[in-house]
Parts: sequence; C-alpha cells; structure tokens
Amino acid sequence: MCGIIGYCGQKAAVPVVLEALKCLEYRGYDSAGVASLCDGQLLIRKDAGKVEEVIQKHKLADLPGHVAIGHTRWATHGGVTQFNAHPHADCSGRLAVVHNGIIENSQELRQELTRRGHRFASETDTEVIPHLLEDELKNGHSLEQAALNTAAKLEGSYAFVVVSLDDPGKIIGTRRGNPLIVGLNGRDRYVSSDALAFSQYTNEVMGLEDNEVVVLTEGGAEFLDAQGNKLVKQARKLDQSWAESDKGAYQHFMLKEIMEQAQVLGRIANQDKQQFTEIALDILRARQVIITACGTSRYAALVGRYLFSRVGKKFCDVVMASEFGYFADSVDKNTVVIAVSQSGETADVVEGVKAARAVGAQVISIVNRPNSILTDLSHQVIYLNCGSEIAVAATKSFLSQLAIFYLLSFAMVNSFDQAAARLAELSGEVSKTLDWNKSELIKLSEKLKDKNDAYYIARGINFAIASEAALKLKEISYVHAEGMPAGELKHGTLALIEPGTPVVVICPDDYTFAETLSNAIETKSRGAYIIGVSDRESEVYDSWIKIPKVDELLYPMVAVVPLQLLAYYVAINRGCDPDRPRNLAKSVTVK
Ligand code: AGP
Repeated sequence: MCGIIGYCGQKAAVPVVLEALKCLEYRGYDSAGVASLCDGQLLIRKDAGKVEEVIQKHKLADLPGHVAIGHTRWATHGGVTQFNAHPHADCSGRLAVVHNGIIENSQELRQELTRRGHRFASETDTEVIPHLLEDELKNGHSLEQAALNTAAKLEGSYAFVVVSLDDPGKIIGTRRGNPLIVGLNGRDRYVSSDALAFSQYTNEVMGLEDNEVVVLTEGGAEFLDAQGNKLVKQARKLDQSWAESDKGAYQHFMLKEIMEQAQVLGRIANQDKQQFTEIALDILRARQVIITACGTSRYAALVGRYLFSRVGKKFCDVVMASEFGYFADSVDKNTVVIAVSQSGETADVVEGVKAARAVGAQVISIVNRPNSILTDLSHQVIYLNCGSEIAVAATKSFLSQLAIFYLLSFAMVNSFDQAAARLAELSGEVSKTLDWNKSELIKLSEKLKDKNDAYYIARGINFAIASEAALKLKEISYVHAEGMPAGELKHGTLALIEPGTPVVVICPDDYTFAETLSNAIETKSRGAYIIGVSDRESEVYDSWIKIPKVDELLYPMVAVVPLQLLAYYVAINRGCDPDRPRNLAKSVTVK
C-alpha cells in the first residue's frame, strides 16, 4: 500500500514527482522520498513523515535532474524510519528502486545476498530488489534485462520502478499483482501506481499487464513481455472525471466527498439497465450467491444481502474477504461471487476472487476505480461511477454501493426503471439531510469529542449502517465504537453502558421503530446519552439527527450521511486529520 512515481522528460523531474506524491499520499503517508539522476550523480533524499513534511525538511524541490522517481510509504516490513523509507539503493549507490507490494521470499533472498557480500541498509523486503539488480548489472545485463531477471526471482506482489547511473536516461518499471500505469505527453513520460499522479499533465495512458516491463526514456516507451519480447500497445484516454483530485474550497477531501453525495446519487441511476437485468438473472439462477468484501464495502454488502432477500427473494451470504478462503470448499461453478471493492485492489478481495475463479465460479465485481486488478479478474463489472475518492474513509463510494445493490435487487423483479427514478429523487433528500443537521452535528461533536466509547444500534436493513457509522468514527477520530443489531445489545454489550455513554440509535419510522426505541430506552435507563437518527421525534433522544421520511428500503442512504459528517466533526474536534488517519491507507494491497 504505497504510491510510486517515475518521470523522465523535458521538465525538471523532482517537482513533477513531488506533485505526484501529494496525489498518491492516500496510498500511504508514513514516509516519503525521491531519487534523481543528475550530472553523473544519484541523489536520494527520504525520511519518515508526511510528504509535505519530508519535502520541507529536505528541501526536495531544489533537487535537479530530468529523471526522477518517488515513493510514499505505508509500512509493512520494517518500522517507520528514515532507513526504511524508499527509494532503496544497491551497495554501490548507483541505482535506486521504489516498490509497492510485498516480496514474500525476501528473507531467503536477503540471506543469500548477504552471503554474497551485499550490505543492507534497511529492514524492508524491498531492499532485496536493488541488490538483485546490482548483481544482474554486474553480469553485463542491460537495466531492462536486469529487471526481468530480478522480477523472475521475486515471490509475492510488486510494482517497482528503477533508475540507474549506468543507464541514466531510463526509467524501468514492472509489476505483478500491483498496479502500474504509464502516462505520455509529448516527450514527457510518467509511470505510477495511479494515473491520478500525472493526470494534471496528460490523460493519455498505457497499461502494463502482470510480468511486463516498460522502458521509459524522454520521448520513448517500450514494452516487453516476461521473455523480453517487444510488445505493441495502444495508448488510451483516461476518463478525466475520474482523475479529478482537487479539494476545491473544502478543508478536507472527506468533507468534500460527503457533501458530493447528493450529486453522486443523482448520477447513479445512469447505469446500464440491460447489464443489470442480465446480472440480476445470473444471481437469481445461481445455486448460491456469495458477496465478498472488506470494511465499509462489506457493510454495503450486508445492506445488499437484505435487499436481495427482501426484494428479489434471493438469499445470499456475505463473507468477509479475509475469511473467504476458509469457505472455498463450498464454492463451485454454480456459485456467483459478487466482489465489492471501491479500489478494486484490496488484496483479500483479489485473493478470494482468484480462488473462486479457479473453481469455475462466476465473478461479478462492483468497483469504483476503472481498470483495477479486480476488474481484470471479473466476468462482469459494475462501476460505481462516483469519481475518485481520495479520503481514506469511504463515504460517497459507500452510498454508491448501496445504490447499486438497490438497483440490482429491483432488477431481479423487473423494476429497474422505478428503482432508478426513486434514487434520482432521493438525491434531494440527501441534500436536505445535510442542510438540516450541519450545525446540530457540529454541536454534538463537541459533546462527543472527549468520549472513549460510542455504540451504534439499529435493526433490519439499518443494522449495517450502525456498523458503518461506528467504523467511520473509529477510523478517523480513534474513539472506540461498535455497531450492532439493537436486539443484540442485551446479550452482552449492555454491560458497558455507563452514565454518559453515547448510544446512536438509528430508528426510522418504520416497522423497526418501536423495538429499536425500546432497546434505546434500556440503555437510557443505565445512563446512556441517546442520539436518535430518525424521521420521528421522541423524548427518548438527548440529541436528534433528523432524517426525511423515505421508503423503508432507502433509509440506509439517508441515515448514513449525517453519521459520516458527525464522525468528520468529531475527528476535527479531536485534532485528527480525517483524510490521513494513523496506521491506515486507502488501498489495502496486503493480506
Ligand atoms: C473505509 O472507510 C475503510 N477505509 C476500509 O474499511 C475500506 O472500506 C476497506 O479497506 C475496503 O476497501 P475497498 O472497498 O477498496 O476494497
């Protein structure tokens, strides 16, 4: 879960790389660094800290050169230290590598390289790569052949980019299991984990398949397969709406993405009815349907399960992607696996999908990022079309996932058009919810900012919203939070309720209202501070987050939005950076 970038061309390379690193920071932000080739020197500067801090501390913008690479890190192997930050060099200091992924056989390779006299400067798995390359170059291979030979020795997943003083005009990149994309603009060449990194310069891109190598020079881009044969590739246009990564007038991406949700919902109905109808039929025909996902995407899947059952009368199971492998015995060619992932590159989801495909299951993925690893592995792909989501905490992608499940479930009963119309109308209700509650949520966040725990309860279709809202609070404000079915509280968690403990009760005015409120009263009797999320007022609430009256199956979409905003304001009040929560990254590409 790191971001990598390389640039060669006519511009000063390091400023381009630094701008790119800021765009890639969502992939990891505990360390950053660059390497630049200039006048026979390889200049490497790196440190622990966020990109901007490292830039300032090491005056990175002053580094000269027209060929440079850069990295922003989310630590896996080795602590967050300057030594472990990328780029990593070989013993001679003549080549530098940035890497995203995990080299699973790094220990064995390291021992072997150490026996051969290589000296390691970090604890990372990555560092075996420059040392392997060094040996290959010593054996007389070109930089691209050295990359091919090195890649063949690596187990695990990687995308890496290398520059060398021995071939100073070149950047070599290769990948297996992790993304790498090339951008072209005139004589300028870019290579990165994400086209966002260079989208301000170009929307002309070329992809790399697993095990392929790209050789970039000013004005040149040559692609090789794993055997070193030249490949012919066509450039394609990047969808610029996807590439947008500007906060606009908002202080944080998370706030912008929360506020965009009404528009996102307005657009979501522009889905391909034919595709939904076909997929709905596949789901109905399948012997079994399993939805697999992680984190927020899994909570969307839980809402989807409810919708499939309630509307389509089709039972399905939701399996946490990291646990999917343990259920693989019952997956077969009569199984439809629906993989839900905003990024399309979550390692647990990708692994589950590979296992499902291996036994002949049909794989449908619901993703946001175009051309992701998951889209390549799927038989059918539904795109969220909500634009790039930069904040680590998923918000607008979650709402879009809910909308997709809503459309799919109604497509099962030939009512796609009606469902699409209802979603378009819901857009106004989402705006209304944000307008009604903004100032109340700011006040409420003041009350919650010093709490250590919070509980979220709901029933039926809204149970997953309780879990998602709790996840939002804990991931960005570091307040312990749990979401659960309201009826489950009395089976244990009630013991944790003390005077003043916040309990968020999602109780729309539907068939769940009375029972959920009754569970809220049980906590209030023990001193809980009740925050009601409902279209129906009650004296039980100490604070009321008012939502509009909507159809019972649409409540999740209006209930989650103010709770995302509440989590945001609590984070701000606690002095946390909601876009870059500690220890987390947007794309979780490790198992
Ligand atoms: C969401 O706020 C979290 N950052 C996280 O739970 C996320 O949803 C999870 O890692 C899955 O990501 P994906 O949708 O990209 O697969």
